[in-house]
Amino acid sequence: MTAVDQHLDGIPPLARRFLDQIDTVPGWLSPKGVALFLTLNATRLSNEPLGGVVEFGVYSGRTLVLLALLEPDSPAVGFDIGPPLAADTAARAGAANVRVITADSSTLTPGAILDYLGGEAPRVVSVDGDHGEDLARNDLMLAEAIVADHGIVVADDFSHPLFPGVAVAVRDSIRRGVLSPCAFGGGRIALARPADAPAWRERITHYLSRDRAVPEGDLIEGQPVIRLFSHENLCAPSGPMEDRCLRIIEAACSNNEWSAAAIEDLLARLGDEHGMTRAQIKAVLIDVFGEDQVRIFVARERAANNGEGMY
Ligand SMILES: C[S@@+](CC[C@H](N)C(=O)[O-])C[C@H]1O[C@@H](n2cnc3c(N)ncnc32)[C@H](O)[C@@H]1O
Repeated sequence: MTAVDQHLDGIPPLARRFLDQIDTVPGWLSPKGVALFLTLNATRLSNEPLGGVVEFGVYSGRTLVLLALLEPDSPAVGFDIGPPLAADTAARAGAANVRVITADSSTLTPGAILDYLGGEAPRVVSVDGDHGEDLARNDLMLAEAIVADHGIVVADDFSHPLFPGVAVAVRDSIRRGVLSPCAFGGGRIALARPADAPAWRERITHYLSRDRAVPEGDLIEGQPVIRLFSHENLCAPSGPMEDRCLRIIEAACSNNEWSAAAIEDLLARLGDEHGMTRAQIKAVLIDVFGEDQVRIFVARERAANNGEGMY
């Protein structure tokens, strides 16, 4: 049984057909992520259609088209800075309610987004655009402003070691008291308005308890969250830059993602996106791996770059 099978009962036939073919659509929605969305769909707090779906960062539409097919009578609007690839996916999947807008989400306002939905607040907002701290915060604040009462906001890559800015932005929303965590699965965190979150958690726990013992709980910013999959790492990186870097590297190691390509990518990102100086990165690497191992990395890197090493 896959992560998805146990959630398929009662979903519309076109959504089911799309899930059968989802591997043919390029994108970043894993079976565990699908399980989270289907869980939310099965446990939503109101059975009334609440006005559709919004996604920031659509790419080829894996997520947007699935959400659109789950609620075919409501509009599903996606925004992406890149070409509207998802329009083709929607047409092939028979999702007539999808609209893909080419736009940088940092230029959008809540009013402009709601206009695309005919003025109705969306029941689901998926935040999956730029994963840097500022733009993740921008997209979350838009989500906070537009999501319907009883609706849900889902942010991707909450604990991804390479995107600590997402966790920082999500934690800020929780600390500001505008969103509360409900569930976590497939790297995605589902958040609701604080008044609705206890009821979401209760229904999700009840629903998941059909198949297994009471699901595991955890805490984010002191608030409970339900984990759909017990082994997923919820320890989102946060804190000062060096500390974050250390956690990113540790998470990369513990997930067995460590490879020559991964280390190169990691070093480039730490330098370019997180403003780490080379000395800071080196200090953290030495902390984690020890002096000898770092000497080997450095030698390997120098060899790869014709003597022009990073350090
Ligand atoms: C991880 S992908 C989205 C994956 C997609 N949700 C799926 O289901 O496969 C991130 C997307 O965000 C888009 N993006 C990045 N920065 C953006 C911005 N400022 N505004 C809108 N979209 C943005 C990228 O073009 C890319 O298509």
